[in-house]
Amino acid sequence: MATPISSRLKVLAILVVVALVCVQEVNAQTGKGWRRLRPNFYARSCPDAEKIIRQSMENAYQQDPSFPGAILRMFFHDCVVRGCDASVLLDNDDSEKLGAPNANSLRGFEALDEAKANLENVCPGVVSCADVLAYAARDCIELASPGTKVRNWTGGRRDGVVSVSAETLTELPGPFSNFTSLERSFAKKGLNQMDLVVLSGAHSVGKARCGIILSRLYNFKGTGKPDPSMNPAYVAKLKQLCPPNAPGNRIDMEQRSPNRLDVNYYADVEQGRGLFESDNALRTTPAGRWLVRVNKNKRVFDTAFVLAMKKVGNIDVLVGNQGQIRTVCNAVNV
Ligand code: HEM
Repeated sequence: MATPISSRLKVLAILVVVALVCVQEVNAQTGKGWRRLRPNFYARSCPDAEKIIRQSMENAYQQDPSFPGAILRMFFHDCVVRGCDASVLLDNDDSEKLGAPNANSLRGFEALDEAKANLENVCPGVVSCADVLAYAARDCIELASPGTKVRNWTGGRRDGVVSVSAETLTELPGPFSNFTSLERSFAKKGLNQMDLVVLSGAHSVGKARCGIILSRLYNFKGTGKPDPSMNPAYVAKLKQLCPPNAPGNRIDMEQRSPNRLDVNYYADVEQGRGLFESDNALRTTPAGRWLVRVNKNKRVFDTAFVLAMKKVGNIDVLVGNQGQIRTVCNAVNV
């Protein structure tokens, strides 16, 4: 049973989160378009839109329980580069898909294409690819976090026509980043330290390639040894999963409940079991450590994660007559 002190701490934590969230809702959106997004955006123009997208996400989830991770990441990578405009879905000789953080790494495109094709059959030219991805992300939060119901998710985003690989390198945070550099790259998008720590909790689901952690496991900063900040038992486990000659192996981002969006991630980070240096970075400053502790509370994390993802979904959106509604998600309309 919870002691009175731990209950009070929980309530305090929740109040702090609510306060942080209120401040961010008012202040921190980048761009103004988000004010024109609204829930039930397609209620009249394409009443089954959300159902159709959900169906494709459920199909993909049945095939692969790690699938929600693919879409949560894709949504973040879309919104941080040029705003939530589905630029990440475009194919061209130099598109975001080809940028180093995305190439051979992002997955889940087929399920989005399936949803979009089904939408075009029933209401052609109405639902943007940016919204397909946004609603897919909402669905994937719910699929990976049973019991969580995301309310008031908005639609109304329109599709961009530009996608440039180099922008993935300047806009997306890298896995070798320290806290200051993570904080800076999130701040550029109107996301604060709480958002950084909460959204990093997405690393409780999905898959990663071993190549990204080999140097951390075998030759950290040229020492010939593992990163000393890592838990030794965790290093041993990861070495089994990622032998030095297997950079292409894909492993679970989190070992205990790999397909659940949950708070195990935060206990792992506290104990030196964060997969990337960027995960470990969260425990390298007092503010980071405190926010990691706050997010170990499931109620806090569940609420704050949805709110932070809504903020991500508001970044630099195109609305009204801006951009276009693509017919297919991987190419601009001719
Ligand atoms: C804090 C800065 C972040 C860094 C440095 C980072 C970096 C990475 C890297 C390197 C991978 C592995 C990719 C691969 O091996 O192919 C990954 C995977 C992943 N990331 Fe992040 N990420 C960050 C933030 C986020 C955010 C904000 C989200 C979503 C809200 C997210 C969601 C995911 C998910 C779900 C996966 C697994 C993808 C899959 O299953 O295909 N990450 N991240």
